[in-house]
Amino acid sequence: MKATLHIDKEFTIGEVDKRIFGSFIEHLGRAIYGGIFEPGHPQADKNGLRQDVLALIRELDVPVVRYPGGNFVSSFNWEDSVGPVEKRPRRLDLAWKAVEPNLFGLNEFMAWTKLANTDPMMAINLGTRGIEAASALVEYCNHPGDSYWSDLRRSHGVKDPHNIKLWCLGNELDGPWQVGQKTPDEYGRLAFETAKALKLFDPTIELVAVGSSNRRMPLFPQWEATVLDHCYDKVDYVSMHEYYDNRADDLPTFLASSLGMESFIESVVATCDYVQAKKRGKKKLHISFDEWNVWFHSNEADKKLDPWTVGPAQLEDIYTFEDALVVGTLINTLLRHADRVKIACMAQLVNVIAPIMTRNGGPAWKQTIFWPLYHASKYGRGTSMNVKIDVDCYDNPTYGDVPWLDASAVRSEDGKAVTLFLVNRSPDQTIALGGKLAGLEHLRLVSHTELHHQDLKAINSEKNPDKVAPTEKPVKPGRAGALDTAIGPLSWNVLRFEE
Ligand code: AHR
Repeated sequence: MKATLHIDKEFTIGEVDKRIFGSFIEHLGRAIYGGIFEPGHPQADKNGLRQDVLALIRELDVPVVRYPGGNFVSSFNWEDSVGPVEKRPRRLDLAWKAVEPNLFGLNEFMAWTKLANTDPMMAINLGTRGIEAASALVEYCNHPGDSYWSDLRRSHGVKDPHNIKLWCLGNELDGPWQVGQKTPDEYGRLAFETAKALKLFDPTIELVAVGSSNRRMPLFPQWEATVLDHCYDKVDYVSMHEYYDNRADDLPTFLASSLGMESFIESVVATCDYVQAKKRGKKKLHISFDEWNVWFHSNEADKKLDPWTVGPAQLEDIYTFEDALVVGTLINTLLRHADRVKIACMAQLVNVIAPIMTRNGGPAWKQTIFWPLYHASKYGRGTSMNVKIDVDCYDNPTYGDVPWLDASAVRSEDGKAVTLFLVNRSPDQTIALGGKLAGLEHLRLVSHTELHHQDLKAINSEKNPDKVAPTEKPVKPGRAGALDTAIGPLSWNVLRFEE
């Protein structure tokens, strides 16, 4: 099969905000306890932070980490997680039916972000709590001193303010599973008033309003329209969440999941722009796709877990090679919407539906889905370019016409390189790539990295952590500006063009 790609230096989508390579850590399962924090582990520092896990996170180069939830945040008292550890309460976490010992909290997380080379994206409880607790939290974190909450922080040994700039106004409050579910009007008003209070404190902080929990929610997109009618002028982003699955073991449909993400993003953008038009406003709202991933492998196992334990093995999806292909197409979709999607968090980072797995007391390793995120985070910063693809499609009952080849392209920040990210969805056909980099004829192909495994269900494990890992393909000295390359069946590819 042949595919022709049309890429032109002058046709760009927008600057890639590096925060689209973000991730998420929730007080859930073994994300914290046994994940990033495990006192007594041979690789833990004196504060219990696992250095082996930190090294993998630094390798991924995650620019932003959302915390502490998720569903967890909707009944969380942040005050429980600060101050002397021995005085912190053990609480029942209603969202995940677990015990939260509060051994790791806000200030520990902030210290961890420094070691992980990342920035925090802090979520506020707007499920069971409201404006007062949110204002107190922001004052505790960001005010230098000489006020009740900032002096409390100082009394906890944290002299300098954390200066957290990015805040989520709650989590999935349209969901019946959420503690403190709201109607769109209830949430829209609360989000507006909370945003007003927080921006009175500091107008430079950025706020994310809660969007629909997924696009199958009965109120989508009326939820966004109503919520934003209330708070459009006070917030900077609206959130999107979506998880994809292959429960039906239907490869053609699973590999087309990104078309669902694409139309979901386009619908949310349209809804934001509708509210903007209604308000006769100038401001464009951006999207924080702050939960996305494949999630289904662990569903059955989770039903068998005992409730009310600390750090249970919840949501521990073991990812296959085919999941990595889907993750590659989802990343391409985010890059193709770089003009409006400014934040995105792969949910989550460690152990819980995550690219990094650990064993308590044992090692840490990379799951298959680590690789496309790693490549995109490393080479996907710069300007997202328009890629017009001429390639055959297959017909899918759920998604209609699905192109066999999925692509995105990013010109590096220094303008000296272009990287193409490609997924060949065909199970048996190599795609002969043609076309050129118009206006960038001085660039030539210098490397071709491929992620492929003959077994779609291949996984990485503690015993075999590199079973699914990228390889370097030989590169023929090509014509300058030409794309001529063979893209093997069922593969994720990173093509680097340099001067
Ligand atoms: O990431 C796991 C959960 O998925 C989050 O807690 C919640 O926001 C979503 O439903």
